[in-house]
Amino acid sequence: MALIELSQLQVRFGSKVAVSGADFSVNAGETFSLIGASGCGKSTILRVLAGLNRDWQGSVRLFDNALTPGMRFQGALRRNVQMVFQDPYASLHPNHTLYRTLAEPLQILKEAHIDDKVKTALQQVGLPADALQRYPHQLSGGQRQRVAIARALLLRPQILLLDEPTSALDMSVQAEILNLLNRLKAEHGMTYLLVSHDADVIAHMSDRAAYMTDGVIQRFYDRPALLNGEHRMT
Ligand SMILES: Nc1ncnc2c1ncn2[C@@H]1O[C@H](COP(=O)(O)OP(=O)(O)O)[C@@H](O)[C@H]1O
Ligand SMILES: [Mg+2]
Repeated sequence: MALIELSQLQVRFGSKVAVSGADFSVNAGETFSLIGASGCGKSTILRVLAGLNRDWQGSVRLFDNALTPGMRFQGALRRNVQMVFQDPYASLHPNHTLYRTLAEPLQILKEAHIDDKVKTALQQVGLPADALQRYPHQLSGGQRQRVAIARALLLRPQILLLDEPTSALDMSVQAEILNLLNRLKAEHGMTYLLVSHDADVIAHMSDRAAYMTDGVIQRFYDRPALLNGEHRMT
């Protein structure tokens, strides 16, 4: 079953066409990736699917429901699609402890057993419980990205949008985070839409991928093509 279905998606910023007629579907349980040079429109597609960019044309379906341009994500839709950004330092509030960062989304949704859920989320991403009183600047880059992943997982989303989640990290830490993401995906039965400019990351993580230039999807790769390294030729 397709959880994400884009048809003729177009996004403009003034006269600039950032995404032009993008078509693809992502099936439940898949990791589908977007590859392409900086500025080709990858993040823009993720931002539409996260409800962060509401000005678009075409057809977008999430969980078999049609979105409409301008629509705000609420309720189940909001919980079910979470995004992890490239730079965990920018996406975490510098003056909030990890406890506050993780507890706040649950408080807003008036959830029960918040302390337990926060501790479990921290454990799942391999951070010690005593980290809860720390601030982002007291963590390494890899630890910060673990916190950002924990925060995204707290709401138990079905879809995780991963926008260059490891490109700000050292190589060794990158591998740890990617393995963590794969383990969490298997444990929670999630579906990933991943953006990366790193061909190794794409080959390691993806079931399928699409290559974009200048807002246009040029071609798709299935798993055999990715294993063959065909995506490295571009
Ligand atoms: N908020 C915005 N306002 C104006 N132009 C934007 C905005 N966001 C993205 N763009 C432009 O849209 C194009 C695609 O950007 P983006 O999706 O961020 O690319 P990528 O993630 O592939 O690097 C780029 O030319 C970028 O400058
Ligand atoms: Mg981007």
